[in-house]
Amino acid sequence: MKTVSAGKLFTPVKVGPMELKHRVVMSPLTRSRSVQPGDIPGDLMREYYTQRASEGGFIISEATTISITARGWYGAPGMYSDGQVAGWKKIVDAVHAKGGRMFSQLWHTGRSSHVGMTNGAAPVAPSVVPEYYGPKTTAMASTPAGWFKPSPHRELDIAEIPGIVGDYRKAAERAKAAGFDGVELHAANGYLPDQFLQDGSNKRSDAYGGTIENRSRFLLEVVGAMVSVWGGNRVGVRIGPSGRWNEMSDSNPIALFDYVAKQLNRFELAYLHIIEPRVKGNVLIAEGQGHIATARLREIFTGTIISAGGFEPDTAEAAVRAGDADLVAFGRYFVANPDLPERIRLGLPLNAYDRDTFYTFDARGYTDYPFYEQQRRGSSSDPLRQQLRGGA
Ligand SMILES: Cc1cc2nc3c(=O)[nH]c(=O)nc-3n(C[C@H](O)[C@H](O)[C@H](O)COP(=O)(O)O)c2cc1C
Repeated sequence: MKTVSAGKLFTPVKVGPMELKHRVVMSPLTRSRSVQPGDIPGDLMREYYTQRASEGGFIISEATTISITARGWYGAPGMYSDGQVAGWKKIVDAVHAKGGRMFSQLWHTGRSSHVGMTNGAAPVAPSVVPEYYGPKTTAMASTPAGWFKPSPHRELDIAEIPGIVGDYRKAAERAKAAGFDGVELHAANGYLPDQFLQDGSNKRSDAYGGTIENRSRFLLEVVGAMVSVWGGNRVGVRIGPSGRWNEMSDSNPIALFDYVAKQLNRFELAYLHIIEPRVKGNVLIAEGQGHIATARLREIFTGTIISAGGFEPDTAEAAVRAGDADLVAFGRYFVANPDLPERIRLGLPLNAYDRDTFYTFDARGYTDYPFYEQQRRGSSSDPLRQQLRGGA
């Protein structure tokens, strides 16, 4: 088959011990389709991930909660029960059968939760910031009864922190039992590790607050726990250095994230996954802005870098070609295009995504986005038909 400008995105790359065939990564995407009750990955999720797996391609799972108290999004899957591990195993086996690789993204939502998700317990956070759940908050929590403002949270006692680090370790062990290729720490978008990092949410005066070193301690301890289970080269960390989503703020983000990137070097991680500043959560805020965060941290972090956030096929190719990123993760385009790597490789048109079904609970807007091949069969006048058949 003839390819159209395959480009650097379609050159092999080694990530930890994984030999990938291309650099189009599936970004972690919460889709709320786990089986309830129990947050169990079921057949619908298996179909969705199988559709998106590709030979030598890399998938990062949707954020997956590490414990009951870590829950904060109705329908998100977990990694704290045997039933969840069994469900994930079927998914990972199916991705592997298609030649793909898959990491599990481990998640503690911290203050971004609601008592409807935590068996009535107040969500936990580094510090109490009443504005976060006050009348002017922009934060929302997804619960069995719908969307609500987050519940009032409580400050974690320092004596509780080792227990949470231990929950990450246990979840990392369970991800191993499920057959994943590795684990990614979700330290972006205003969830617990990010809440510790940034001084808008961390007002502590003990060893976990105050200085940049202290605010980074929780993240580094969690990474240490994950590395103790997997080895550094099977652990990734996702950060959002300029993220404002979930009411996040920091007085000196450049110094903070420079320090974090530098400290992470010692773990010899599989990769650092950086969300670019142009994206606020899942909403594009500044179209066409350059890849600032990745380019900066590239100078500091010595390992592999995955960049994410508002990429188009051509800007992804440019970022990899410029050497700023080694791989590029796509979020919304992967929602809508199960065969995204193949579409990019062949320069085919991309399906548009439907935001209204991002977080609904059934197959619609989830497993019914068409593959290009299906669309082609439905339209005989398609000018790209010849090329797909290898005729042009
Ligand atoms: C529906 C949806 C769910 C998301 N869920 C997660 C998640 O579970 N974990 C995470 O780190 N980021 C999550 N994100 C952020 C994406 O991984 C990605 O960073 C963001 O969509 C920007 O990339 P894009 O412009 O290619 O979509 C989500 C985004 C969307 C649209």
